[in-house]
Amino acid sequence: MSQHLSNRSGRFITFEGIDGAGKSSQIEAAADWAKSAGWEVVRTREPGGTPLGEKLRELLLHEPMHLETEALLMFAARREHLAEVIEPALARGAFVLCDRFSDATYAYQHGGRGLSEAKFKALEHWVHPVLQPDLTFLFDVAPEVAAARLAAGRDKADKFEREQADFFKKVRGAYLMRAAASHGRIVVVDAGSPIESVCEAVLNCLRERFA
Ligand code: TYD
Repeated sequence: MSQHLSNRSGRFITFEGIDGAGKSSQIEAAADWAKSAGWEVVRTREPGGTPLGEKLRELLLHEPMHLETEALLMFAARREHLAEVIEPALARGAFVLCDRFSDATYAYQHGGRGLSEAKFKALEHWVHPVLQPDLTFLFDVAPEVAAARLAAGRDKADKFEREQADFFKKVRGAYLMRAAASHGRIVVVDAGSPIESVCEAVLNCLRERFA
């Protein structure tokens, strides 16, 4: 069965955090490191990562919809992404760097919007019963700091970025709970510290685990 990837030769690394936590530059640095370590690097993102997924992203980020519709579309895009990009890349031995994955659905749709945990788990079990990232970086930062960064760097906010501080507090709380229960899969990085030390923490962790 294609989802049983225990014999895969690639590595699956995901990057998470509330909007404005500063994932992008860290993904860049991780990609450079992996290339220099000799890996084939595949950089991708969710929602998105496939032609259909990018169309769904457009809807998800700009169209108002019922919370369960949102959760279902996140997982629909993910199903396509796994089949078209992630699973084939892992099977051929690539280092897959993915900007958000199911931890984001847990944090945003369950933590932020209140989707029941049972429904989240049912969807996760349907779409990827076995596969989990080998390593997830959670860039943790206070919602006020993240909001200030977003305000400085963006002109037009999407549906999620327009949410208020209270929403991001709940998202952050859910991320931290998931990290605590992850048996070390999710590494929490203090994203409030200077960008160079955040980057150093990321690269050290990658070297320790995958060099
Ligand atoms: P993001 O990854 O932050 O992209 P950018 O940095 O270009 O804005 O944006 C994706 C948004 O989608 C983000 O606000 C979080 C949200 N999201 C969910 O709510 N649930 C999910 O499962 C995923 C993957 C993303």
